[in-house]
Order: sequence, then structure tokens, then C-alpha cells
Amino acid sequence: MQDKFEEIRQKALSDISKTDTMRSLLEIKAAYVGKNGSIRALLRGMKDIPADERAAFGKIVNDLNDQVTALFEDKEAILKEKELNEKYKSQAVDITLPGKKPQSGSLHPLNIVKNEILNAFIGMGFEIFEGPEIESDYYCFQALNIPKDHPARDMQDTFYFTDNILLRTHTSPGQVRTMEIKKPPIKILSPGRVYRADDDASHSPMFHQIEGLVVDKGISLCDLKGLLDEFVQTVFDDDTKTRFRPSYFPFTEPSVEVDVTCCKCHGEGCSLCKGTGWIEILGAGIVNKKVLEMSGIDSEKYSGLAFGLGIERVAMIKFGIPNIRTLFESNLKFLRQFNRR
Ligand code: DAH
Repeated sequence: MQDKFEEIRQKALSDISKTDTMRSLLEIKAAYVGKNGSIRALLRGMKDIPADERAAFGKIVNDLNDQVTALFEDKEAILKEKELNEKYKSQAVDITLPGKKPQSGSLHPLNIVKNEILNAFIGMGFEIFEGPEIESDYYCFQALNIPKDHPARDMQDTFYFTDNILLRTHTSPGQVRTMEIKKPPIKILSPGRVYRADDDASHSPMFHQIEGLVVDKGISLCDLKGLLDEFVQTVFDDDTKTRFRPSYFPFTEPSVEVDVTCCKCHGEGCSLCKGTGWIEILGAGIVNKKVLEMSGIDSEKYSGLAFGLGIERVAMIKFGIPNIRTLFESNLKFLRQFNRR
């Protein structure tokens, strides 16, 4: 009998030493000291042992049970520690590795330029008024002295929803909408998207404009000149000069086209300014009296100045971008150049 006990003990020892996972250890443990294990089976066999040997037998089996259980517990402790170490190792973080650089976004060049322009004028006391992109024929044309069949409409051919509702072709309707609800003095900017059936290297069917309007007593071309000089010097540089060329817009009289000295050659003449030293930047003028009157402003008492510029155009000149499409292609290589951080 003694030999049998020793054999069980030795077998348990060898099984335990061969095991290297907690799961198989628990399986073997059940086979020895579990409810249906071999040591329990010995205890169940006690009834067949002669009564005077039973106590001694029981003690030996219990000792065996204790010894084998202790062997399992030792091994369990070893395996637990091993598993923990492996877990720590696999989840370890190498704090000496360089961190992942967060990708930071940046403003789109059109927003950079838009903000610069708005800020230049806000600094001079202008307020922002945004009109709707879907406009009526009245606000987009008629109230700006462009009646139906006026040739000026051809230049602004656009997308109509009905005969009277269209995608605005310019931000000038913002002038009318402001004058209808605001009494002079008025000093507003109306930025936003505009749409035209136009598509080439310098024109896009959708682009952005900023409209400016000042209405007060005694507003003249001198005010326009001073205002625009201040603006171009903020957006380009302090040496930038403006010049007025006579032009025609139905909603201004007189009308001018405004050029700035080329920001690349500073007036010497280069490829950007086609050798002239000047670049056209916006349209402007003194608000036509008819336009003031149609919007309910007394043209005997008040006069106004207005200007309208394309944000894409300013961005293309300022950053030397030859094709307008570059601004809409969302090419990250191009856009990242404007990340100033
Ligand atoms: N609305 C004109 C356009 O889109 C630009 C413009 C010219 C606006 C002269 C003005 C202005 O306010 O006075 O071509």
C-alpha cells in the first residue's frame, strides 16, 4: 500500500513538473485531489480496509492529499507569477520611443485671406452682413439697376431655379438688403459664395466675394481711395499702392476698377502683372443714386461708396497661385504649405 501511495505522489510530482500552463495544471489537480480524483478514490475505498487499520490508512491518505495539494499550490503560485510577468511584458510601453505627432489642421488659404480682408475692414469699423446664396432676380439685378434684358446680365450668366429665383452671381445684393433694413450711417461687408457659368484657369463656377458698402453724408471717391489704400496695405504690404481706372457697373456712378502695384515685382513689371507693374483687384464706385432711392435712402441727403472683390483672386495674387482650381482640389500637399504653426 505504501508503495502505491508513493507511486501516486511521484506521478503527481512528475505531472506537475511537466505542466506549464494554469489550465492544464487545474485539470491535473482535479484528477488527483478533485471530487473524482484518484486520492479521493482511495478515501472512498476505506470501507474495505479492516477496522483496526482504517485510522492509520486514513491518516496516510490525508497526508498524501495534503502533500499533493501543497505541490499543486506551489506550482500554481509559480505559474500565476509567470502569467503575470508575460502579461506585463506583452503590455509594456517603451517610454523611450518618440511619441506620435498629432496632425494639426490649418485654415484653408481662402479662409486665411478672407479673415485678413474682413479684419482689415472690421478694424475700420465695418460690420458683417451675410445675405442668402439663393436670391431673387430683384435683389440680384433689378434693385442694382440691372433691369431685365440689360446687357450687364450677360457677364453674370448663372444658374436659375425659376425665372425669378437664382444662385446669386455676386454679393452686391447684400448692399440692397442692408439698405432696406438699416438707416445711414452704414458701413458693412457682405462676404459669401457666388455662382456663375464660368470655368477656366482664373474662373470657377463657384467662388467667393466680399462686398463693401458705406452710406453716409458726403461720401466721395476720396473716401473710397483712402479705404482701399488702407485695406491693400494690410493684406499685401505697406508699400502697396492703388490706382483707379474708369469703368462701368450699373449700380455705381462713377465706377472704377482698382489696380494694386504688383506684389511680386513692386511695380517693375514681371510675369505676374504681365509687365505692367499693376494688377486689377476689384470693382468699386460711388453708389448710383437710383440704387439708393430704390432701397429707400434719400440720395439728396446721403451718398455711398461700394466695392466688390473676389477672395480667390486676392489669394491667387498674394500667394502666387496660377490656377484657381488648385484652391478647390483639397490637395493636402498644397494646403499644408499654409499651416503657419
Ligand atoms: N458685383 C460686381 C461683380 O461681381 C463687383 C462690384 C463692382 C461690386 C463694383 C461693387 C462695385 O460693389 O461697386 O463683378
